[in-house]
Amino acid sequence: MTKKLTVTSIQKAKNERPLTMITAYDALFAKLFDPIADMILVGDSLNMSFAGKPDTLSATLEQMIYHTQAVCQGAPNSFIIADMPFGTYTTNDKALENAIKVFQQSAADAVKIEGGEAKAAMITHLVDNGIAVCGHIGLLPQSVRSEGGYKVKGKDETQARQLIRDAQAIEKAGAFCIVIEGVKADVATKVAQDISVPLIGIGAGSGVDGQVLVFSDMLGLFEDFTPKFVKKYLDGATLVKDAVLHYKTEVESRAFPDEMHTY
Ligand code: KIV
Repeated sequence: MTKKLTVTSIQKAKNERPLTMITAYDALFAKLFDPIADMILVGDSLNMSFAGKPDTLSATLEQMIYHTQAVCQGAPNSFIIADMPFGTYTTNDKALENAIKVFQQSAADAVKIEGGEAKAAMITHLVDNGIAVCGHIGLLPQSVRSEGGYKVKGKDETQARQLIRDAQAIEKAGAFCIVIEGVKADVATKVAQDISVPLIGIGAGSGVDGQVLVFSDMLGLFEDFTPKFVKKYLDGATLVKDAVLHYKTEVESRAFPDEMHTY
C-alpha cells in the first residue's frame, strides 16, 4: 500500500514527477482508484455525469458532502479534494462556513474553488483557518452561463498574462496546487514555469505538473459529448451495454441462472 499524499508531498512532487488526479463520485469507483491515483477529486462535474444535468451549477453543498463521504469511505489512502459548488463561496465568510461543513462532515483533505486573482483573499481566509485549498483557473465550468459556453482560454496575450497573474495570486494566497482547465498548451506550460506549486492540467497540454480527467469521460462511460482533450482509455459504454444485453438474452432464454449460480 502506498502512503497517502499530503499537502507537503504534493507540493514536493513539482519538478520530481507528474501527478495523476482523477474524479470519483462514489465509494465503488473510489476504491478502484485508491491504490493508483495521487489525488481524487470529488468534482461538481458529478452534476452532469452522475445526475444527468446540463451543467455543474445546480450541484448543492449537501450533495457534494454526500458524495465526498462516499469517496472518502472507498479511498481511505487517497488525498481527496471536494469541489465547492456554485453559489457556496460568494463571500469569504460564506466560503469558510461552507468549507468547514465539508471538513466537519467528511474526511476531505482539501476543497477546490474556481477563480483566479479575484479569489486570492478568499483562499487566504480559508487557509488561515485550516482549510487546504486547490485553485482552479482557465476555463471555469461554473461560469458557463455567464460566459455563454465553455471557452478555451489563453488565446491571446492579454488572456495569457491574466492566467499568469491568476496563478501567482492564488499561489501567494496559499493554494497548495492549482487546476488549469481548457488553456492553450504553450500558455499553460508558461504558467507552470512561473509558479512553485503543482499545476494540474485538464485540456491544457503536457507541459504542466500533472493531469486530471473526469473518470466517466476517460472510461468512455459518458456518451453525451466528448471534449477534444478527453482520451478514452476504455470503451466503457459499449462494454456495459454489451454485458447488460448478454444478461437480458440469458434471462429471456433462461440460461441464467444456471446451476453454478443457484443455491
Ligand atoms: O468538477 C470537476 O470534475 C472538475 C474537473 C473538470 C477539474 O472541476
